[in-house]
Amino acid sequence: MRMVDIIDKKRNGGELTADEIQTFVDGVVSGEIPDYQISAFLMATYFNDMTAAERSALTMAMMQSGDHLDLSSIDGITADKHSTGGVGDKTSIPLAPIVGALGISVPMISGRGLGHTGGTLDKLEAIPGYTVEISEDAFLQQVRDVKCAIVGATGNIAPADKKIYALRDVTDTVDSIPLIASSIMSKKIASGTDALVIDVKTGSGAFMKTLDDSRELAHALVEIGKGVGMDCMAVISDMNQPLGNAIGNALEIQESIDILKGQGPQDITDLVLTLGAHMVVMAKKANDLATARAMCERTIADGSALKTFGDMIAAQGGDRSVIDHPEIMPQAKYQIDLPAKTSGVVSTVKADEMGIASMLLGGGRQKADDQLDYAVGIMMHKKVGDAVTAGEPLLTIYSNRENVDDIQDLLYDNIQISDSADPITLIHETIR
Ligand code: URA
Repeated sequence: MRMVDIIDKKRNGGELTADEIQTFVDGVVSGEIPDYQISAFLMATYFNDMTAAERSALTMAMMQSGDHLDLSSIDGITADKHSTGGVGDKTSIPLAPIVGALGISVPMISGRGLGHTGGTLDKLEAIPGYTVEISEDAFLQQVRDVKCAIVGATGNIAPADKKIYALRDVTDTVDSIPLIASSIMSKKIASGTDALVIDVKTGSGAFMKTLDDSRELAHALVEIGKGVGMDCMAVISDMNQPLGNAIGNALEIQESIDILKGQGPQDITDLVLTLGAHMVVMAKKANDLATARAMCERTIADGSALKTFGDMIAAQGGDRSVIDHPEIMPQAKYQIDLPAKTSGVVSTVKADEMGIASMLLGGGRQKADDQLDYAVGIMMHKKVGDAVTAGEPLLTIYSNRENVDDIQDLLYDNIQISDSADPITLIHETIR
């Protein structure tokens, strides 16, 4: 079977067989298919989509391209959460210890930042000593002992995705439903979790900008998961404005600690509790969402979630004193307020551009090998619907360079103040 014929079939809108998809994935992993043919295949898929059968064949071939984690040594139902990526989305960081504090095992394999979106692993690495690379044995032991771990993909999980992902990033084929669905689900199936809640982001800061596309992605993800017997569901949540107030690695750890202390911003706290409640029900520790949510809330009120977070940090080599002394994380040299130019109501805060501003300050990567500056980022003081008076700070820029004129211009261009604002709905839909 020649790769050019497979590309031709997809380019002309044909449906690929499982064998053809397997040939593509095998060739990606062995290195026999050159990058230009992989890229052509990705672009043909981007434009012509894939049927449900093709999406699931691609996912399975990518999943089988590497190792599988064996979670059988962990008692009970394992539950995980994955987000399709957003700005200010530190949800996993408080969520894993909240659910873990209820005795549910949360073996969480997370990712790094991509484009304007932040990555959970990058944020956790702002904590002195915290390592996201631990052996499979240590990972399993930690989940048994502490009940949660947040790590990078151990060993050789879905190597086809690593190669394809890197090419998608540079061929502008990231925001494709079959490519996102196969990328996420190949890793999640290989990581062996029993139950999975997927947080599908929708809006300007998400890869899927419209609710229709987000819904289609959510259905594709859930269908693939259920097809392999995973208990899988999706929540579609808003990503038109940043989630919470903090954007940037150390700032987001600080905000995660605030959430665990019951002092976090309302939107992100609400999302964490919503996702946590679904995980608790899926793990069969509660029969209904209201009870499950109250259980999650209790772990915050009684301090057990914060203690579990400290235990997780310590187990992964980090300094748990960060909980009471966030100043041990890298600190920015300059804190520069961005004053409102007019009075009114904040009507738009474009999430993607806020993410880009944080990336340009050094908080994200512009090239794959860029070193991150953990200290920098943005702290929002006003969000959509908030009243503001001219001169009042809309946000504070945390920077290690004194001149941030370029960042200020970008931020002003993407925050709108009007007479009124349309309210933002945080949770749009739940898909099972
Ligand atoms: N996260 C992934 O792992 N893959 C994607 O394609 C998008 C988000």
